[in-house]
Amino acid sequence: MDGPGRPAESRRRTNTLSGDSLHARVLAALLVMALLGGLAGPPDHSSPIPPEATVKQSSARVTQGATTPVTTQPRVDCRRERCVALTYDDGPGLPTPRLLDVLERHRARATFFVVGEMVRMHPGTTRRIGREGHAIGVHTWHHSDLSTLSARKVRDQLSRTAELIRRVTGTSPTLMRPPYGASNRLVRRVERQLGLTEIMWDVDTADWLVRSPVSVRERALRGVRRNSVVLMHDIRPTTVDATGSLIRALRRRGFRLVTVPELLGPTRPGHSYYDWRRRSQVVR
Ligand code: NI
Repeated sequence: MDGPGRPAESRRRTNTLSGDSLHARVLAALLVMALLGGLAGPPDHSSPIPPEATVKQSSARVTQGATTPVTTQPRVDCRRERCVALTYDDGPGLPTPRLLDVLERHRARATFFVVGEMVRMHPGTTRRIGREGHAIGVHTWHHSDLSTLSARKVRDQLSRTAELIRRVTGTSPTLMRPPYGASNRLVRRVERQLGLTEIMWDVDTADWLVRSPVSVRERALRGVRRNSVVLMHDIRPTTVDATGSLIRALRRRGFRLVTVPELLGPTRPGHSYYDWRRRSQVVR
């Protein structure tokens, strides 16, 4: 694509830059020789479209959202292994970068259900969440109780947040979690129209209520089963304090820490997974 045009352009540039025609001719001759000899040529800053950009463009659909190292992680089969998905709601907030440091140190991935107005306040942190391989889902724009809203307002709360996530991270979210776990048929119908799957939880750490790292860790460990989804909040410093020792304890019990997409695989939009009322993992 950039084969024939490149030497001519390089030559022209060299000429302009040196102002010494002999020097320029020697350089041009060397360049032609290098190209004829099948060498790669000089580092390509003259070509407007370097070859690697072409590759990136053509595979953009495949790599979108996977500029993160997700693909390089060994695949976890949660039908066979003991998986657990840690989920963090209501952020990103001020404690979130510290949580990301903890997760990075432990090479653990989690799922973040973010609030639109928080994303607008912390776009850099949101971008980092995506970049470091965590999954991101929608948690409404205003942390609204969707079960009390009209279809139009539900749609607005979800689509506005999804659109901002897409603009900030480059990836469209496919998961959502309704604030307070409050949903109904109307909400799920809108979710289906927007291509969003509802993800509840089966383990509640009550970290918003009891602000103690020991309590967060112990509640999580007491409730966790194979393939559990654990509810926490990354806007709580105590939850961030608990996360390192929780991860170590879970791993000692043989759990693999995965994101919700890794745990569930492909999900059906408009359906709800897990049931916090029954503490069950049943799919509705
Ligand atoms: Ni919430």
